[in-house]
Amino acid sequence: MSDLHVEEASVDDAAAIREVIHSAFAARPRLDPPTRALDESVASVAAAIERDGALLGRVGGIPAGALLFADEGDGALRLRRVSVLPHLHSRGVASAVVARAEEVAAHRGHDDIVLRTRSGLPATVAFWMRRGYAEVERDGTYLTLAKALPVEVAAGSADDSRALGKRIAALARPGDVVILTGELGAGKTTLTQGIATGLQVRGRVTSPTFVIARAHPSLVGGPALVHVDAYRLDGTLELDDLDLDTALEESVTVVEWGEGVAEGLSTDPLRVRIARLRGDDDVTASPGGEDAGRPGESEVGLMDLRAITITPTGARWVGAGVRSHLTASPSQVAL
Ligand SMILES: Nc1ncnc2c1ncn2[C@@H]1O[C@H](COP(=O)(O)OP(=O)(O)OP(=O)(O)O)[C@@H](O)[C@H]1O
Ligand SMILES: [Mg+2]
Repeated sequence: MSDLHVEEASVDDAAAIREVIHSAFAARPRLDPPTRALDESVASVAAAIERDGALLGRVGGIPAGALLFADEGDGALRLRRVSVLPHLHSRGVASAVVARAEEVAAHRGHDDIVLRTRSGLPATVAFWMRRGYAEVERDGTYLTLAKALPVEVAAGSADDSRALGKRIAALARPGDVVILTGELGAGKTTLTQGIATGLQVRGRVTSPTFVIARAHPSLVGGPALVHVDAYRLDGTLELDDLDLDTALEESVTVVEWGEGVAEGLSTDPLRVRIARLRGDDDVTASPGGEDAGRPGESEVGLMDLRAITITPTGARWVGAGVRSHLTASPSQVAL
């Protein structure tokens, strides 16, 4: 919907947001226990906005969707009273509001988004699942759904990529699967070398030319690294294909070219996508221009820059602090 706009709300929007909440929740099926959303007053909504903020989506300038934020100081940003006017369902309003909420959460430095819904609302639960939210808790009819937020960092050199790999290793636990995506020469093996350093495993990580997978045992009693290169592999990856003595539950498995082939290895992989930012346009377009020679913008640096997007999937990464951990280093600038 092109005339759809979602903005962070001010207390002046409290009455409009209360209206959207009331219309949306009044139209839902009756649940037991009944929702308290209908008890929200302009004052209670204003207080919530004052405390932690809110979003208001408008279609053609008219309030159409809303939610309230709640920050309980545990790293997660909670979404409350997620509401869309009933006659605007399936028109992209909810998606736009949630997308904006994820931006706000990342901008505020949160790792995760958390919300509660009811098992008696299957369409609502399906809506969240499609957007990558996973069930983390069930208490009677109440479900807690959560999503660990993705993070994008810049790596200007192979060493930057290795440093990021090392940080990923610090997050990893036995049984984790890291799916690496990126064109030829994007730096997948380089990142894996950093993971190997972080895990303190034996052997040099190289591109496995004749084998699909290689196991690197731990030197410190931790998990082994299983390094898989699925480039030559057709179809999906089965455990048996790997032909390893090492059990994946006791290892951290990293799969280059893993997208679409390694999904069978884990329901909750950490997806890492490496994109080479070709600086040609920006850099060579103005060789003698006023930007030339700006500190930190050598041709080499910009030409070789990688944008690395880490997308945690599934409940495994909720509460793991992925975003804050991977952006904590000064050399890893969040894009
Ligand atoms: N962030 C980076 N910045 C600049 N150069 C990098 C970066 N990461 C890796 N490189 C360099 O890019 C080249 C290719 O890296 P690497 O072999 O890791 O890519 P790959 O994605 O594994 O390739 P393949 O598709 O063949 O498996 C190497 O010379 C490496 O040093
Ligand atoms: Mg490689």
